[in-house]
Amino acid sequence: MKFFLDSADLAEIAELASTGLVDGVTTNPSLVARTGKPFLALLEEICRLVPGPVSAEVTATDLQGMLREAARLLEVAPNVCIKLPLTREGLQACRALSDRGAKVNITLCFSPAQAILAAKAGASFVSPFVGRLDDVGHDGMQLIADILTIYRNYPSFRTEVLVASVRHPRHVVEAARLGAHVATMPPAVLRQLLRHPLTDKGLEGFLADWAKTGQRIT
Ligand code: G3P
Repeated sequence: MKFFLDSADLAEIAELASTGLVDGVTTNPSLVARTGKPFLALLEEICRLVPGPVSAEVTATDLQGMLREAARLLEVAPNVCIKLPLTREGLQACRALSDRGAKVNITLCFSPAQAILAAKAGASFVSPFVGRLDDVGHDGMQLIADILTIYRNYPSFRTEVLVASVRHPRHVVEAARLGAHVATMPPAVLRQLLRHPLTDKGLEGFLADWAKTGQRIT
């Protein structure tokens, strides 16, 4: 399972990339706006910090505009993955870009039907938003299960399921249990995955006992 960071915060990305646990990054216009930084320069920095795919979202809503913006974003770094909304124009742009060998992440997916279209359009990734579905009383993880079942029926579908809008570690664990290819998570969720009070307590006990021996390993 691949872990992506859902963030445009350079300090957070740099810190967590140094753990070796981060395989890629996803950004969106809201995350970029929150940084107050110019998008293209920020994207270049992020692409330097992580070798894996960095999703950069277009903001045009018409086909030609999407393709123009995608062309500019692809110039920034070889690991840029173009993020397109799950609209008719987004799917058309996805087909055109995928045919030219570009990686595309189709975002704002909320139904199995939409995920089928993303796969048919040749997307490298589809991003179902589990947290936003949970927020409105639906079952986000059921959507992941449905998409994975459908994709497994068709080996010609190469699209990876990128679980997005992750709110807590349980979303990540459940996504892994189902066999999702990728989970993109806010930095806080990656940190939460790491922590367990019994790990801290156990380590404290081991180190206290070791100190009593007066020994050193080096
Ligand atoms: O980047 C897409 C997605 O992960 C957004 O998550 O928390 O705004 O629903 P959220």
